[in-house]
Amino acid sequence: MIIAVDGPAASGKGTIARALARHYGLPHLDTGLLYRAVAATVRQMHLDPTREADAVAACSFDDSLLADPSLRDDETGKLASVVSAHPLVRAALLQRQKRFAQQPGGAILDGRDIGTVIAPDADAKLFVKATSQVRARRRHNELVKNGADVSFEQVLADIRARDERDSGRATAPLTQAADAAALDTSSLTIEAAVARAIQFVDAQVAAKARQ
Ligand code: CDP
Repeated sequence: MIIAVDGPAASGKGTIARALARHYGLPHLDTGLLYRAVAATVRQMHLDPTREADAVAACSFDDSLLADPSLRDDETGKLASVVSAHPLVRAALLQRQKRFAQQPGGAILDGRDIGTVIAPDADAKLFVKATSQVRARRRHNELVKNGADVSFEQVLADIRARDERDSGRATAPLTQAADAAALDTSSLTIEAAVARAIQFVDAQVAAKARQ
């Protein structure tokens, strides 16, 4: 079984995808980490993230980088959304994600274009969303907890800028696949969101089996 989970920054897609992976016993790939690894490599090599050739040169990063906790910081996320807009960067990371999706026994992947590009034939697709206010609140709480000195307004502006970049790019923009179930987590606890996600997946899988 292949499960595709897409959605914007801080929507809760990563948490939901990890919980689904545990529930169904599937291997999970956080595809955002791949773009974050490209971003970190661009920075480390002092390349220009807005130049496609520079960003492509950063796609042959070592796999050990994926375990580096600094990939998860906010700066790297911002830079990831810049390098991920280059079509050749997306092409360079495509086969790796498709291979992961098609492994025997199935898989779950989360990102921006899983249901639309990486696994269009997935057995279940979720599009996880929440208002930008709620997502900024979550991200702000997380940052403050980790000791960052940043205002809520700044985080909200960053989230909106990232949404615009991710949704506005020409190649594989962030968009809900026609056959994905939308899950709005704005007023849901994590437990409630995960329970709803499991219901959606079970319903989609059952509907496919009847076809
Ligand atoms: O967790 P958060 O949404 O903040 O970030 P992420 O999922 O790690 O993704 C970081 C950036 O990588 C996003 O803003 C996207 O621009 C890009 N990305 C993408 O283009 N396609 C994906 N499948 C996953 C991430």
